[in-house]
Amino acid sequence: MLTQEQNETLCRVGPGTPMGDMMRRFWIPAGLSWEVPEPDSPPITIKLLGEELVAFRQTDGRVGVVGARCAHRRAHLFWGRNEENGLRCVYHGWKFDCEGACVDMPSEPEESNFKDKVRIPAYPTVEAGGVIWAYMGPPEKKPAPPLFEWTQVPATHRGISKVWQQSNWLQALEGGIDSSHTNFLHGGLPPGQKHDDSDVMGRARNLSLAPVIEVVPTDYGYIYAGIRSTGEANYVRGYHWVMPWYQLRPGGRAGSSGHMWVPMDDENTMVYNMHYTFGYAPAPERSLKMQEAGNVPIWKRDALEPVGGGNEFKEDVDYENNFRSKRNMDNKYLIDRELQRNETFTGITGINVQDRAVQESMGAVADRTLERLGTTDRAIINARRTLLKAVKTVQDGGEPPGVAPTYYTLRSVETVLPQDVPWFEGMKGWLFGLEEPKTVMEVASGGGM
Ligand code: FES
Ligand SMILES: [Fe+2]
Repeated sequence: MLTQEQNETLCRVGPGTPMGDMMRRFWIPAGLSWEVPEPDSPPITIKLLGEELVAFRQTDGRVGVVGARCAHRRAHLFWGRNEENGLRCVYHGWKFDCEGACVDMPSEPEESNFKDKVRIPAYPTVEAGGVIWAYMGPPEKKPAPPLFEWTQVPATHRGISKVWQQSNWLQALEGGIDSSHTNFLHGGLPPGQKHDDSDVMGRARNLSLAPVIEVVPTDYGYIYAGIRSTGEANYVRGYHWVMPWYQLRPGGRAGSSGHMWVPMDDENTMVYNMHYTFGYAPAPERSLKMQEAGNVPIWKRDALEPVGGGNEFKEDVDYENNFRSKRNMDNKYLIDRELQRNETFTGITGINVQDRAVQESMGAVADRTLERLGTTDRAIINARRTLLKAVKTVQDGGEPPGVAPTYYTLRSVETVLPQDVPWFEGMKGWLFGLEEPKTVMEVASGGGM
């Protein structure tokens, strides 16, 4: 439970708000590189931390993220013509480059130097991992580029997608770091039916509906583990939360997945989903399955939600409608009560859709003065505390955690450990990317530890 004031501090992200100021100290995922595929391709609209922006790729290949409205009389630059290293407003032809300078003003007399005095807001960008990142904070505080391991593997070994979520960013983050809901919300089996007992992970899930959540604070956020016991061994999923909105989660054999929950404004969030294989291992099994299922471009693969298992996938994200989910609150996420009675816990198809359904149902900004937290909410409580502390640190002139690039080598890993091995001791070399991790299968078949 939080006070109203704490909840407001955590959830309001616009310019000049305490959280908005803290978040502006990070590189912010602004869009996917393929959205502005080539020089002079059409601009796109984006919204970050309450600011309306457009992104465009200049003739020289650089990506600009600039204020959405023309400095002249505020026409939207989305209508603009992207030509010769600048975006030209279609109302009276003023043209702006990716640094926000007005470089042409054909509607004023030729001898006028008015254009030299006119600018629109513009933010520095970098591209890494198929993502355009913008920096919206004080120029002298710009951090090292956000080179997570997934940004550094070949594009063929990575999948990334995004989808618009209609809720405040914090309930999306909190849903992601809440390991205990998976048994319920994402239960793909008839309610009451057990997971596969011949599989050590399934056995641990059957025996332990309430995983023990442990948190180890780090200089970038924390590592947390969801621990499920089979009696003789522990099935441990090790995650990272990197300030303020990044999560790395175990992603099957020799890979990691992750999310970035980026506030568009106080009531909307762009959720990025990534997965990749460590180093140069083969492409993730899931991607390969999806590839077999249909000839889908790599950048669309993550947007496919499995339908009823097997190799059947159905696209859920509407690219033409600013990445809105086709299953959404207006159509009740196409909930199927028959499916819910007989096959799945929710009757809603798609893991990410299930997450959105419950997170959006909490209201645009959840009222945390009314909640009742339990022991499995430990990671959530810790994240809120860390975020509030980071806000204070920035207000006092300091650097928030997660700005320094200590997160570059992190990996998320799941494994099975003998009961007497403390999970952090057993896994820290893998989690920090210092040793090659063993997969659950290798450990379970005697090849581990
Ligand atoms: S409003 Fe853009 S040039 Fe006039
Ligand atoms: Fe979930």
